[in-house]
Amino acid sequence: MRTLVDLPVSLSRDSPTPLSAQLTGWLRHAMLAGTLAPGERLPSSRGLAGQLAVSRTVVTEAYQQLYAEGWLEGRHGSGTYVASLETPIPEAAPAPPPRPPAPAERTIDLTPGTPWVRDYDRAAWKRAWRKAADLPPGDKPDPYGLPHLRELLADHLRRARAVTVGPENVLVTRGTGNGLDLCALALLGGGARAGVEDPGYHVARTVFAARGAEVVPCPVDEDGVIVDGLPADLRVLYTTPAHQYPLGGRLPITRRERLLAWARSTGATVVEDDYDAEFRYDVAPLPALYGLDPSRVVLLGTLSKTLAPDIGVGWLVGPPELLDRIAALRVALGDRTSGPVQHAVATLLERGDLDRHLRRMRLEYARRRAVIVDTLGPLCRLRGDTAGLHLLAELPLETMPGLVAAARERGVLLDSTGRHHYGWERLHGLVIGYGSASLADIRHGCRVIADLITERAGAQRRSE
Ligand SMILES: Cc1ncc(COP(=O)(O)O)c(C=O)c1O
Repeated sequence: MRTLVDLPVSLSRDSPTPLSAQLTGWLRHAMLAGTLAPGERLPSSRGLAGQLAVSRTVVTEAYQQLYAEGWLEGRHGSGTYVASLETPIPEAAPAPPPRPPAPAERTIDLTPGTPWVRDYDRAAWKRAWRKAADLPPGDKPDPYGLPHLRELLADHLRRARAVTVGPENVLVTRGTGNGLDLCALALLGGGARAGVEDPGYHVARTVFAARGAEVVPCPVDEDGVIVDGLPADLRVLYTTPAHQYPLGGRLPITRRERLLAWARSTGATVVEDDYDAEFRYDVAPLPALYGLDPSRVVLLGTLSKTLAPDIGVGWLVGPPELLDRIAALRVALGDRTSGPVQHAVATLLERGDLDRHLRRMRLEYARRRAVIVDTLGPLCRLRGDTAGLHLLAELPLETMPGLVAAARERGVLLDSTGRHHYGWERLHGLVIGYGSASLADIRHGCRVIADLITERAGAQRRSE
């Protein structure tokens, strides 16, 4: 067994970065570069602390962080290992594309919203569909969804989101968009006021407005929706507490409690969009808002991030009386979720295929995120990088004009905070999605972004 003693780990006590974060970064680099190979055993925390002359806490914190990110795995009773790769790390990125005015030959999409759908377990996928194909199509779609799938989803939510729900609290939707529409139908009459985070998910604004509600933009800061000053006459407030879309904030527990107190005092329903909560790269996930007060919250979940948007399955979690109302509306409107698709999804859940896929993808996304953090972290403040499939690279307002267009000319598609706003922009920067581009493309795209930021900062200094 090789130990880290041969490897040049150098930690600086003079650096403002804590020793455990330095060690985490060093180990991550070594795993990315292949210096530490998948399956390789790491020294015990006591052993490594001794080698590096640091306290054992420094090493355990670094290991915990890397466990949470999926880089390390434990084998019972036998230590800590570099997680084995199911997705090989591609070779170093190719040379940068030509500089303008020559157009880039290919584009790298770093806009948010799309997951990586290419690495799925083909055998599990086929098995799920074979099983669905064995069953005859139904003649009367159940507006609540298949009872068996509702049970499996309740079980999934209890395990993955620590919320206490039974199948009677779960209605199977076609995804978040459908869930939002059903909430609008059941909770908002024409002219009712619906709060939507600003900046926020454009689909929520569009759906509520399309159902005749008056959309009220509710400001968001780096932690999430700002509770102080929320209007008292909102019937519904749409929010993304686990990972604010698009700024990435994670609503602190005190603000969660204040938000629920506001909802109780005004009678509003909080619609919690839990769209990417299964992907977390830090140690302690916060419980869903729903779990804190099921009487005031409707939780919306989706397979769009965990599996693929094309599947068209999600869930709406709420009190049985609300689900009854929604089910009746679905029947009235002829709205349903495809039965065969639900059978296939049930098989994926039942056999643990979804959990396995999640574990694999968590590791894959953690790697991509680490590349972004390593390349752009030294140049700008990154927010929201502990969860989900996107993060915010915060930049000074002066850096932003023309940045997205300049990146496009170099072959990289980017998104900026401005696009998600209704009103005043508090934070400016790039919303970088790492779901749909490969690790090599992300590495290359980040270098393009880093060059652009550096060039702009240089130009700014020269003009001062
Ligand atoms: C904030 C947010 N919520 C939910 C979703 C998923 O929506 P759906 O389940 O309708 O595909 C997305 C997809 O990009 C999203 O960005």
